[in-house]
Amino acid sequence: MNRVDNLKKIIKRLTVVLLAFLALLIVIFIIHCINVGRYNSEWRIITSDSSSTQILVDVHPRGGVTDSWVKTNTGLGTSLNAKIYEMVVTNNSHYYVDDWQIRFNISDKCYLNNGWCGTFEVHQFPKSGEEIYQTLDLRNFDEKDIILNHTLAGQDLLIPLDYGDYFIYHPDTSPASGELPIKGSEDMEGNCVCGFIMYSLTGEVDLADYELSYRLHKYVWDGFAGKFFAVAFSLVALSFLILGTIFLVSVRFESRIQALSKLLEDANRICCSLSDSRDYYSKGHSQHVAEYARMIAEKMGMDKSDCDIVYNAALYHNVGTVFVNEQILRKKGKLTREEYAEVKKHTIRGSEILKDIENIPLAYEAALCHHERFDGTGYPFGKKEEEIPLIARIVAVADAYDAMANDRPYRGKLSRDQIREEFIKNRGTQFDPAIVTAFLDVMGERNL
Ligand SMILES: [Fe+2]
Repeated sequence: MNRVDNLKKIIKRLTVVLLAFLALLIVIFIIHCINVGRYNSEWRIITSDSSSTQILVDVHPRGGVTDSWVKTNTGLGTSLNAKIYEMVVTNNSHYYVDDWQIRFNISDKCYLNNGWCGTFEVHQFPKSGEEIYQTLDLRNFDEKDIILNHTLAGQDLLIPLDYGDYFIYHPDTSPASGELPIKGSEDMEGNCVCGFIMYSLTGEVDLADYELSYRLHKYVWDGFAGKFFAVAFSLVALSFLILGTIFLVSVRFESRIQALSKLLEDANRICCSLSDSRDYYSKGHSQHVAEYARMIAEKMGMDKSDCDIVYNAALYHNVGTVFVNEQILRKKGKLTREEYAEVKKHTIRGSEILKDIENIPLAYEAALCHHERFDGTGYPFGKKEEEIPLIARIVAVADAYDAMANDRPYRGKLSRDQIREEFIKNRGTQFDPAIVTAFLDVMGERNL
């Protein structure tokens, strides 16, 4: 397996790990979103007795000289004193108050007159009958639609309230009112000021008994958990981006490598065809020897890259024949001593061509020593046993097999059994015994 394949394998494993992490993250994030939804939908309550630092309510009379007055034409046979009350809701939390309402429980006789900007849900419990309630916009109403007990003093509406009655203020939902939502303290706008007018005999109305209901709204990205998810999702996305980029680059690199390998294969084929074409009987010989040499290397337990080196080196073992007289190579009769000496030169001439070719390692040794014999009686040097490079000993066996398995000018091709006999007979003399053993196994397994 080459480095690109290893890289792709690592990318696939990392992608699986990332997908698993992303799936887990999504599950936890969904749970987080559900919790945020619950948090946002929860109604919280503050009463006049509560002590909250996050949400504060302040109800007080407005203090200006024009903020209280006496009304004499009440139609009730008595004068009433009016006063403007301000209601301030302050949000000191980091989240929006996205809904709220406040209920005032009445403890003494008074009259609700006007208010801004929201609506008033008034509940009356007259002694003579059942509860009467109605929600009104006190700045914009039609008197004939009012079902509450009420009187009109000129154009002023007076809604009588007494102990046990209550009214609920609902804020104006229009964005321009600024009553909803109430932004958090971080926005420096964390409060809302509303107001209404109350009448009473003394001008004082006890509004100390109130109950504020509100809901907070936080976003899923708020808080530590939200920031954790934002960072985690960003890192996962970045990791996928990096892995994707590396994968695309590796695919492009691999396609370039494959194109170059193909080019090298074509060049090899051309070179080998050139040397094989010198001898009519050697057509395809180099290719066959290379394939047998690879089989032997695989049988000997070499890894893929070493097997490739053996294959490429074996391809060029006879390249030196391009310098041998073609008539001698194709001669059908027995060679003279001079002619045989000429043929022998192909080992030296081939090695001279391959000597400086670094990208085809071992080809030099294969070309130079593939006619050496294990017992030291070969050529060109008469090397023996381990003195002969391993690649040359492998090629010698592969070369001999291809020669025996095909017709030659001086004999016909040998049978399978004859070839096996020849190898066994020459084991330890012409051939390395270990390589013969490996090749006999190859012949058996591949039915050669
Ligand atoms: Fe040869």
